[in-house]
Amino acid sequence: MWFSSVAHVVKVGSIAFLFVAGFVMLLSMYMGVQPSHCMPAPRNQHPPRPILLLWFWPEGHKFDLSDCKPEFGISDCFLTDDRTMVNNSEGVLIYNKAIQSDLSNLPPRHRPPFQKWIWYNIDPPSKTRNLTNLDNLFNLTMSYRKDADITVRVRVFSRKKAEEFMLPEKDKMVCWVSDEDDLGVARDYYNELKKHMKIHVFGKAFGKPLEPDHYYSTIASCNFHLSFENSISPDYITKTLHDPLVSGTVPVVLGPPRKNYENYIPRDCFIHVDDFPDAKALAESLSHLDSNTTAYQNYFAWREYLYVKPRLLESHNQFLYDVCLACQHLGRKRIYRRIHDVYKWFHTKPSWLP
Ligand SMILES: *[C@@H]1O[C@H](CO)[C@@H](O)[C@H](O)[C@H]1NC(C)=O
Ligand SMILES: *[C@@H]1O[C@H](CO)[C@@H](O)[C@H](O)[C@H]1NC(C)=O
Ligand SMILES: *[C@@H]1O[C@H](CO)[C@@H](O)[C@H](O)[C@H]1NC(C)=O
Ligand SMILES: *[C@@H]1O[C@H](CO)[C@@H](O)[C@H](O)[C@H]1NC(C)=O
Repeated sequence: MWFSSVAHVVKVGSIAFLFVAGFVMLLSMYMGVQPSHCMPAPRNQHPPRPILLLWFWPEGHKFDLSDCKPEFGISDCFLTDDRTMVNNSEGVLIYNKAIQSDLSNLPPRHRPPFQKWIWYNIDPPSKTRNLTNLDNLFNLTMSYRKDADITVRVRVFSRKKAEEFMLPEKDKMVCWVSDEDDLGVARDYYNELKKHMKIHVFGKAFGKPLEPDHYYSTIASCNFHLSFENSISPDYITKTLHDPLVSGTVPVVLGPPRKNYENYIPRDCFIHVDDFPDAKALAESLSHLDSNTTAYQNYFAWREYLYVKPRLLESHNQFLYDVCLACQHLGRKRIYRRIHDVYKWFHTKPSWLP
């Protein structure tokens, strides 16, 4: 009796042992086939961080993909440019301008069901090629448009407590700093305005590039900065507005209607060319403001409670923040979505815009 129950226990025990041993062996075989370096967790185990694959380096600029954390505190995904990881990537970020017209340089169409392609375009419609056959490829949009899934644009932040603003010293009235290779629609207004006042120009657009060290300080040394967009299109409001707001200079904007700017920045922090019948009237108004400190300083009242963050100025880093934002979105929002026609969305003006 005693023997038999011992025998029974031993028997049960050895079956259990064999079972456990077999499981351990299977587990170690399974672990053994996992790549040891990058360690994307197997799909069914809910990876802690999704992989975002940067398919093209925007404009060929390479930057350090590990900078999202130190620069912006963003660490919601694992960022890579390693195309061999395409089958494990939850997101693939595709810079629209780099797509060849025959679409031959896109990622493989046979993609895992969890993979989202992100259409990344920061050009205005007039500068965006209309590629055919891009239907039903993308899942998310990233652009300057407010209704994009991931919006990359000027943002105003509120201060925790009121702060007094020290106006930088000024020795120039009107400046224009631009690195654009094409000044586009901005050039005509500029040519007209310069008949009525001196405009100090800097940047690659004028063959006078500024080093990052001198960039913000040069803008700060002017009372006004011509924040002229080279293309006029809803929501297309770029760094040319952002940078004087950082520097402590009043932007004079040319772009979409004033109401559209007021969606994003305080109404009393900028001057719109449409506020005046013509360039001559604008020039007169700027001269008046130049001689009336009280009136000029009213353009900075908003800074007591709001501010705009400086951006990274080195040209290789100009896309870093956008890419980090895509990483943040991918890690935080697990939505399923398919975009039938990305251009239809991009070329249709949303109803809420002026
Ligand atoms: C991705 O998976 C497909 C089959 O689903 C395979 O043909 C392809 O070689 C894989 N790509 C890589 C880079 O492993
Ligand atoms: C692309 O098509 C839209 C209309 O669908 C048009 O407004 C836009 O100008 C076109 N872009 C180019 C670069 O031709
Ligand atoms: C200067 O501007 C302030 C505020 O707009 C105004 O009240 C004042 O009359 C102006 N002074 C002169 C001399 O124009
Ligand atoms: C992404 O879009 C493609 C094409 O429309 C679709 O087949 C796929 O199911 C979508 N995937 C996700 C995860 O949204």
